[in-house]
Amino acid sequence: MNIKHISVIGAGTMGNGIAHVFAQNGFIVTLIDVSLSQLENALHTISKNMDRQIAKGGLTEEAKLEALKNLTINTNLAEAVKNADLVVEAATENEALKLKIFQQLDEYAPSDAILASNTSSISITKIASATKRPKLVIGMHFMNPVPIMKLVEIINGYTTDQTVTETIISLSKSLGKIPCVVNDYPGFIANKILMPMINEAICSLHEGIAGVESIDTIMKLGMAHPMGPLQLADFIGLDVCLSILNVLYQGFGNPKYAPSPLLVNMVMAGKLGIKTGEGFYLYTAGNKELVVANRFK
Ligand SMILES: NC(=O)c1ccc[n+]([C@@H]2O[C@H](COP(=O)([O-])OP(=O)(O)OC[C@H]3O[C@@H](n4cnc5c(N)ncnc54)[C@H](O)[C@@H]3O)[C@@H](O)[C@H]2O)c1
Repeated sequence: MNIKHISVIGAGTMGNGIAHVFAQNGFIVTLIDVSLSQLENALHTISKNMDRQIAKGGLTEEAKLEALKNLTINTNLAEAVKNADLVVEAATENEALKLKIFQQLDEYAPSDAILASNTSSISITKIASATKRPKLVIGMHFMNPVPIMKLVEIINGYTTDQTVTETIISLSKSLGKIPCVVNDYPGFIANKILMPMINEAICSLHEGIAGVESIDTIMKLGMAHPMGPLQLADFIGLDVCLSILNVLYQGFGNPKYAPSPLLVNMVMAGKLGIKTGEGFYLYTAGNKELVVANRFK
């Protein structure tokens, strides 16, 4: 399958990164969002991130200009996907919303276009069932920050056609990424393994076995993780961690995935990590230096 025109839905954290790497690699990209200001912010972020690549010697000014020429924004879904060879959906993580978007994509995108989702936890098989082309639906799970992280977790839905998987594997390689193919079960592989580790770190804190700094330091220095699990949870967003744990808990029906009551409390209290200024750490002075939140001192 020949992929040239790519539509990316959702101009948030992931959507702008995904549009960035496709545009930088010569694809014709349309970035779509319901919010025009979000689209304008995304263009600004992409330009700033490319400047950072230039400063580090990873991109030239000319390549940046070329990449930005490949990129347009649109708030009209029907118009923006009508010539797409591939759509990558990276809208808000909400099942009802994604099912609706895929029904619309099925109607508006060319009948042979591949429809991919960047979802972290929603069943690809269920998303595919919202369309009349389940064979052409696949998971293309990029990691944050997209221009930097090498992995693309490719998720085969129950009905995904092998040629679609092969196309997405070679497309990912053409972006300089490393694809890994997994099957469609709750949390796929990345989150099925990561989230229980984060949850165990939160349970250990809740049980008083160790403090925030000790838990993160042990995992950083002892296991060579670049970031401790509590810091990583703050980075991902505690609400996102809770929602993925609930998907694992319900999907496998296994109590080992039950979210820590401390995590549930923190989400109810609005302490969601970096995005709200406080989680296990306090971010009022930025996120360069780690300051443990008063609650956990
Ligand atoms: N943030 C991460 O670290 C991360 C990592 C991997 C995967 N993901 C997944 O990527 C997806 C996007 O996550 P995010 O963190 O970028 O979210 P985000 O909240 O930063 O951005 C979501 C964007 O979707 C837009 N949107 C909502 N409804 C829409 C619609 N109907 N049409 C078009 N746009 C719409 C919103 O306006 C917003 O700009 C989710 O499925 C998430 O699970 C996130």
